[in-house]
Amino acid sequence: MNILTICGSPRRGNSEAIADKLQELIQQKKSSNEIILLRKQNIGFCQGCVEYCNYKKVCRQDDDFKRMEKKIYKADGFVFICPNYFQMPPAIFKNFMDRCSIFYTRGDEIQFKKKKAAVICVGTDSVKRIQVCTDNVANLFCKTIGLQVIAAKSYRSNSELKGKYNDIFENDKNPTLLKDLRMIVDGLTG
Ligand SMILES: Cc1cc2nc3c(=O)[nH]c(=O)nc-3n(C[C@H](O)[C@H](O)[C@H](O)COP(=O)(O)O)c2cc1C
Repeated sequence: MNILTICGSPRRGNSEAIADKLQELIQQKKSSNEIILLRKQNIGFCQGCVEYCNYKKVCRQDDDFKRMEKKIYKADGFVFICPNYFQMPPAIFKNFMDRCSIFYTRGDEIQFKKKKAAVICVGTDSVKRIQVCTDNVANLFCKTIGLQVIAAKSYRSNSELKGKYNDIFENDKNPTLLKDLRMIVDGLTG
């Protein structure tokens, strides 16, 4: 299986730590996994020019998203990971979702139905509050473009990394994290 991870934190933090751990687990299953860090991509804001893309079935912007489109078509499954900002995804991830509307415009839901997706969000609030963001990405974004959502999970961080790369695997707020990640990998690669 060819799994594509899209990571939507503007920093190298907890979301990236989870992406890295998932990559290790996916590779153990002899599947491939590329991690795309949105913070390193040059992706223009969706200009909302539907009078162009609705008819031409292409986005008029020529940027890194265009390169990502090919990878999205080739992938068998996806992991979407981002922080929770005010129960919404950060701007770079929101923009990624907006740019993905081209798939909906093209009617790709039919071929995307075969592709599985796992959504993971991290934040400092309660799981219940973070889950609002997670569910929006899973139910409103993934399902609209036709993806089969196999997991929508939320985990708690301490926010300030204080020089560390992450705390999500070290704090005691996520007792099921590793077990959940293994289940997600089984679901995506099985
Ligand atoms: C602009 C901003 C808004 C945030 N709002 C929330 C929030 O409403 N709820 C929450 O749980 N965490 C909130 N956070 C905390 C982040 O979700 C938390 O630090 C998370 O670990 C960031 O993910 P990362 O480590 O992958 O960057 C906010 C952080 C920022 C920078």
